[in-house]
Amino acid sequence: MNKVALIAIYGSPRENGNSDMLLNEFLKGAEASSHAPHTVERIFARKFNITACRGCHACGVTGTCIVSDDMAGLYKKLEQADCMVVSSPIFFYGVPSQLKAIIDRTQAFWAGKYRVENPDPSTGRVPRGCPAGATRHRGPAAYGDFSGSVCKQGAEGF
Ligand SMILES: Cc1cc2nc3c(=O)[nH]c(=O)nc-3n(C[C@H](O)[C@H](O)[C@H](O)COP(=O)(O)O)c2cc1C
Repeated sequence: MNKVALIAIYGSPRENGNSDMLLNEFLKGAEASSHAPHTVERIFARKFNITACRGCHACGVTGTCIVSDDMAGLYKKLEQADCMVVSSPIFFYGVPSQLKAIIDRTQAFWAGKYRVENPDPSTGRVPRGCPAGATRHRGPAAYGDFSGSVCKQGAEGF
């Protein structure tokens, strides 16, 4: 098996909290395994200055985000990674805003792939959609279903 470059995203604003601990343990196991990643890049969402997606859809034209902040460096790291692991606490049935900003800003990858690089072969036009409600696709919205994830419920013990 080829060695992979792993990117590990710590999603909590709280340093050394529960989800940091979970991800540290996961990485310990991964690094000790026979399939140990070639490189592990640890990304702490709380240390980045990444603003919310503006929903301007400029990335739908160029495939790149026009907002200038720390996400520029993170786009490069994400592109270079072979696989990714994300740890996060649940904040009001979602993820903390620092991590959510990163997730939303990866819309530029989606736009680059499906809007810019893949025009409709029959018309040559890039697909245009009208999102219904909050989601674009049928099925559970991204991050709406955590089943299959490594979840530690009741981590607080109350
Ligand atoms: C703003 C906020 C919202 C939260 N919302 C939820 C929630 O909806 N469901 C839940 O089970 N826990 C919720 N929690 C509890 C955290 O998910 C829990 O304390 C978690 O273990 C914190 O992880 P951390 O130590 O990695 O930051 C919330 C905590 C905070 C601070």
